[in-house]
Amino acid sequence: MYSLLRRALFTLDAEVAHERTAALLKFASQTPGASAVLRQLFAPATRGLGQTVAGLTFAHPIGLAAGFDKHADLTHGMALLGFSHVEVGTVTPRPQAGNPKPRMFRLVEDQAIINRMGFNSVGMDVVASRMAKRPLQLPVGINIGKNRDTALADATADYLSAFTTLAPHADYVAVNISSPNTLGLRQLHETAALRELLDTLRAANQWQRPVFLKISPDESLDQLEQVIATAMTAGISGIIATNTTISRPNLQSSNANEVGGLSGVPLRDPAMATLRHVARLTDGKLPIISVGGISSAQDVYARLRAGASLVQLYTALVYHGPAIVAQLSWGLAALLRRDGVSDIRQIIGVDRNLPA
Ligand SMILES: Cc1cc2nc3c(=O)[nH]c(=O)nc-3n(C[C@H](O)[C@H](O)[C@H](O)COP(=O)(O)O)c2cc1C
Repeated sequence: MYSLLRRALFTLDAEVAHERTAALLKFASQTPGASAVLRQLFAPATRGLGQTVAGLTFAHPIGLAAGFDKHADLTHGMALLGFSHVEVGTVTPRPQAGNPKPRMFRLVEDQAIINRMGFNSVGMDVVASRMAKRPLQLPVGINIGKNRDTALADATADYLSAFTTLAPHADYVAVNISSPNTLGLRQLHETAALRELLDTLRAANQWQRPVFLKISPDESLDQLEQVIATAMTAGISGIIATNTTISRPNLQSSNANEVGGLSGVPLRDPAMATLRHVARLTDGKLPIISVGGISSAQDVYARLRAGASLVQLYTALVYHGPAIVAQLSWGLAALLRRDGVSDIRQIIGVDRNLPA
């Protein structure tokens, strides 16, 4: 059924299609009859798939990655599509428009997207008030970033103000230092800047919220070692790996040369390679949320075995439609059954020491 809807949506500009879909989902989630139907239609598998990560309870491992629900409009709708958790954002302290449109491009032949949204955000105060009213159904993280016109040297102050406003309303906070679309942001992977940022947030964290660091797939192994060491010293709760890539591995589509971050199937191998490095470096001491190119139950299974506790996706929702979480979770349950595994926790990290 989604193939028909997809054909119609793909005739529209990618961001317009996103807005229409989001509006439809929001409407359905506010309509009692429609939400009951969605809940039934897209019910995910949960048996043997639940676990506690960073003190939060997840019914299964598959969550919505940041960027789809930037303004905290869709958490209820995404719960109806079966996601176990939603990451809202990126949210900036002050509202900002983001980059000029068009800024989101489908690469259909590659099952990928390039985006250069540039943190379009309604700002932290609007998101805080929406989050204060949200139904408590599933863990919701809030991903924070800095405003475009804040100098990099002042970035910590921006993150701190977003953190103190939003952490009270979030189940976890994701510190995004890895978007390629805000000039210089990725320099926050450097040790001194990262240490200052994470130490400041730790000192401000009177709510004891879990704090995850979202990293880029484009760092060298040396940089990755430094980032993980710094994050562990700063008492971070977990790592989200990864954001989009600025690399362009073997793409077929005419949009391949658009500027921005690439997500979807071509990101699968770089994201898996980063996960393997991070899993080896953290050695089971920090939970990892793996993101990037996940579109099948086999992908989820491989990420968990490599050391991820949870996974997230965005682009596969665009290409495979609203049944994606049901498909992946039931598929994962079947793979576990095939291998005689009754509880997901038995397989997390079993392949950690395989070569990257
Ligand atoms: C249109 C679009 C907007 C995004 N916006 C954000 C964002 O605001 N903050 C963020 O941390 N990641 C953002 N991402 C990255 C995703 O959260 C995710 O890390 C990336 O897309 C890889 O996952 P995927 O291959 O399943 O899409 C965005 C991705 C897309 C496609």
